[in-house]
Amino acid sequence: MAQRDWRIEYRADAALSDSENARLRHFLFGCFPYETAFLTRRYIKQAPAHRWLVLDEKGGIVGHAAVHEKTIGTQNGDLRIGGVAEVCVASPYRGKGVMKELLREIFEWLHGRDVPFAMLFGQPKVYASSGFQPIDNELAAENSLARHWNPFCGKAMIKPLAKTPWPRGKIELRGPTF
Ligand SMILES: CC(C)(COP(=O)(O)OP(=O)(O)OC[C@H]1O[C@@H](n2cnc3c(N)ncnc32)[C@H](O)[C@@H]1OP(=O)(O)O)[C@@H](O)C(=O)NCCC(=O)NCCS
Repeated sequence: MAQRDWRIEYRADAALSDSENARLRHFLFGCFPYETAFLTRRYIKQAPAHRWLVLDEKGGIVGHAAVHEKTIGTQNGDLRIGGVAEVCVASPYRGKGVMKELLREIFEWLHGRDVPFAMLFGQPKVYASSGFQPIDNELAAENSLARHWNPFCGKAMIKPLAKTPWPRGKIELRGPTF
């Protein structure tokens, strides 16, 4: 098997240095060139509390995923979810399962904190093999167009991390989408 030339590291968003901030924004804008938000800040809609970086042998950023600590309102009561956002891998590292491994680490981390679901907005063909399932609940959020999502944002999907059943009915995302 070929030697792996990358590693995954956790970073609390609040602990990022100025130089990491600049490198991260540069990397994110390279992966999402239509997201001008990255010209001035390191998130699109809301600052996440947690990040995972994929680093190459020299410490360069070659992959990233953010996780928001969110509570959603449902007809069964409030549920904690890990809102996964800004998932990206540098072109030379794509198609090697880097994203899938990044997500596996995130699932383990969330599971260890008793968070029953990961949730994201993305393309089902990219996330299905990581266990994400599209959901059809009506969604409400501070900044949303309810269930009509921008196609760049993709479909709302969840990954169950515990035995908790996913609720039916309207989901209130509380705060902005991610
Ligand atoms: C999407 C992205 C993160 C995938 O990273 P990656 O490390 O290449 O992904 P993996 O190798 O782990 O593959 C994961 C799955 O996604 C699929 N996939 C990856 N890129 C895809 C694409 N552009 N179109 C369709 N499927 C894709 C793979 O075939 C694989 O599916 P499988 O397990 O069923 O075979 C990467 O291509 C990227 O950064 N793209 C630009 C930014 C972006 O669009 N991010 C997603 C925002 S929702």
